[in-house]
Amino acid sequence: MWKPPQRVKYEPNPGAWPSAAEASESLWFSPVDIGSLTLEHRTWVPAMVPWRSNEEGFVTDDVLDWYEGFARGRPGGLVIEATGIRDIPSGPLLRIGHDRFVPGLKELVDTVHRASDGHTKLFIQCIDFLAIRRRPDPIKFLERFLKITDDHREKLNAADWTEEDIRAHLVSLPDESLDAILTKRELEDLRIGYRERVTDTHLPHIADLPEVLPVLFADAAERARKVGIDGVELHYAHAYTMASFLSSKNTRSDGYGGALNGRARLPLEVFAAVRERVGRDYPVGCRFLSDECIDGGSSVEDALYFGMAFARAGMDFLSLSRGGKFDDAKQPSVGEAAYPYTGPSGYECMPAYISDDFGPFGRNIEPGGRIRRALREEGLEIPVVVTGGVHGFQLAEKMLRDGDADLVGAARQALADPEWFRKVHLGRGDEVRICTYSNYCEGLDQKHKLVTCKLWDRLDLDAPGVKFSVDGKRRKTAPRWQP
Ligand SMILES: Cc1cc2nc3c(=O)[nH]c(=O)nc-3n(C[C@H](O)[C@H](O)[C@H](O)COP(=O)(O)O)c2cc1C
Ligand code: SF4
Repeated sequence: MWKPPQRVKYEPNPGAWPSAAEASESLWFSPVDIGSLTLEHRTWVPAMVPWRSNEEGFVTDDVLDWYEGFARGRPGGLVIEATGIRDIPSGPLLRIGHDRFVPGLKELVDTVHRASDGHTKLFIQCIDFLAIRRRPDPIKFLERFLKITDDHREKLNAADWTEEDIRAHLVSLPDESLDAILTKRELEDLRIGYRERVTDTHLPHIADLPEVLPVLFADAAERARKVGIDGVELHYAHAYTMASFLSSKNTRSDGYGGALNGRARLPLEVFAAVRERVGRDYPVGCRFLSDECIDGGSSVEDALYFGMAFARAGMDFLSLSRGGKFDDAKQPSVGEAAYPYTGPSGYECMPAYISDDFGPFGRNIEPGGRIRRALREEGLEIPVVVTGGVHGFQLAEKMLRDGDADLVGAARQALADPEWFRKVHLGRGDEVRICTYSNYCEGLDQKHKLVTCKLWDRLDLDAPGVKFSVDGKRRKTAPRWQP
């Protein structure tokens, strides 16, 4: 993962823990309404993909165990990982794109409601993403995949060469020479790997996204409601389809790109279709970026516009993340695919302990607060979830007191200690296992390996009932806490 050049090292600093009485009277452990739903607390576990589904995208025992752990911590809201809305093979990513996923998802709902004793409301993050391929072997790319065009012939002064001659010549050239011959996009396909964009409107299935996606998201949301999930989070963040529509890099000229209203159009149409399908009384919100954190990307001002538009359209909550884009991702090795959390914008999304002068904690608070205050100034009371580097009660409580957020999320801290919210609520904060922001978990995610935390995955390995990862070295879930 990319590291800020300053390389300042930070230790976690959760601050003082409240007594049980203080926690009960705090804002963080006070109720909040999300549409028609009341969450008992303003504590939130945002979506985290743990690579525990199977090749068919079903809920597995590992998926159930993972969410059961968080549910025992009784957060107000728990969001199921990014879950694919299409009925297409997606590797071990959870899916909701067909009714055959219904029984497994129902079991997941029952598991969470049971393990939290009915205290936690469950949301699901619905995602669409476009095709991405691995970085190709350069010889294979030039010999087979590259489409030879008139432009190449002209640049090579090779009008009468056969295609085979051109390919052989390209293979013989040093890599830098290709800069003058291939287009920017071809060079990217060669050096990073082919990746579809929402701006590839010459491809019919990309041109048709505005027709196809509202129905797919609505189908998924209807299924979520049917299985008893308490609400839906539309994934409009990071590097995926809907975020790419919102991005200032979206130059589509069909009314779904360009100016802010064009970029927000499909996300609003998707929401409208979802709303129509699930009804006004079912909670629907979205996760989007307070800032894309890339050169020429959408800024906080853009996010203010989107937040207003989503709130006015009738969304029930907004959850803010930041960064996590392909645009500045690290070049993958040959045979690997690019990963959107490996560059500076990825760092903004999941900042690690080696940081800059600001540090890894609370980087999303200032923009989150700006967005929330702007909404309130317009009389929009929509609850806003802010996440990023929060691992202590004091900071979360301050965010709520200062009006920077209505709910405070913690992803990695909840992974480090799935039961931490309950510990804090019961006045036993000194028993919390504190995340060190090592990003070991994120490294596993990057390799699509079962996600665990380095603070617990080698603990008590000989305890009865421990389940192990395929390499046999790591336990899959955190040791259980006895309240
Ligand atoms: C292993 C892992 C998987 C993640 N998967 C998702 C995801 O599916 N959807 C999403 O919106 N964010 C995802 N994130 C980002 C987190 O939700 C969160 O925004 C980020 O980790 C910053 O919050 P934190 O500092 O509390 O960890 C993931 C993070 C981690 C560590
Ligand atoms: S591996 Fe554990 S300690 Fe390290 S960042 Fe992830 S959750 Fe935190």
